[in-house]
Amino acid sequence: MFTECLTVVLLGSVCFAAPPSYIKPCALNDPKYDDCVLQHAKDALGFIVKGDRKLKIPNFDPLEILELKPEDVPHDSLAFTLKDIKLLGFRDIQLEKLVFDFKDNHANMVFDMPTLILLGKYDVTGRLLILPITGNGDVNSTTVHPRITYNADIKYVERNGNTHIQLENPTVDMNPEHVYTNLTNLFNGNELLGKEMNDFMNKNWKEVNDELSPPVRQAIGQVVTSSINNLFMTATRDELFPKTL
Ligand SMILES: *[C@@H]1O[C@H](CO)[C@@H](O)[C@H](O)[C@H]1NC(C)=O
Ligand SMILES: *[C@@H]1O[C@H](CO)[C@@H](O)[C@H](O)[C@H]1NC(C)=O
Repeated sequence: MFTECLTVVLLGSVCFAAPPSYIKPCALNDPKYDDCVLQHAKDALGFIVKGDRKLKIPNFDPLEILELKPEDVPHDSLAFTLKDIKLLGFRDIQLEKLVFDFKDNHANMVFDMPTLILLGKYDVTGRLLILPITGNGDVNSTTVHPRITYNADIKYVERNGNTHIQLENPTVDMNPEHVYTNLTNLFNGNELLGKEMNDFMNKNWKEVNDELSPPVRQAIGQVVTSSINNLFMTATRDELFPKTL
């Protein structure tokens, strides 16, 4: 069978064969086009989150991330690094909205899950909001109903005379119901100061989450985008979105 290889910057070399059976087309002239896209994506999601080694789609539950550094945090008063991260909760993902708009070349997706749990190792020094913070240990950050919004541009790439859809410039926002954070071993294990900081973080969870979540959101955006793009390389634009069916 004809197989095609492409080097994906993030994930290395991927070989593309036929599309997986859960990838189903929607006709652009379908009066219920938006419903079709949402329904087919909902049907596919349960398969996608289990991962696909051939397509370099990771297992999403747990989704493992080696290291995150908040390079994009717009201040240098806080150095916060996360390592050996596991994100749990994607197996219960619910897709609420999915739009592929080929007029504006824009993709929009809204999904939610009961909880998104981040476990791993943290290392922090600096100032969090108004308080000095330092420590390294274990982190458990549990986001209740993260309500994740994904946006990206739709672009086209040509491969062997065929046009494929690719998503670029992803952004991920969250509008959580609540975030519980627990950092162990803050302030060299000083239990009183550690408890005070954890209490402060949980009382001010919204502001703390705004401060600390950008690298996590960015990582989710990258891995979702590369997974969708790898799937989109298995079928042409016209196979996925024919004018009529
Ligand atoms: C993480 O925190 C959540 C909520 O506080 C808790 O339910 C869960 O058991 C914790 N998980 C671990 C591995 O500590
Ligand atoms: C934070 O995590 C530690 C270690 O898992 C646990 O002993 C402690 O009870 C947790 N604190 C809270 C407030 O959940």
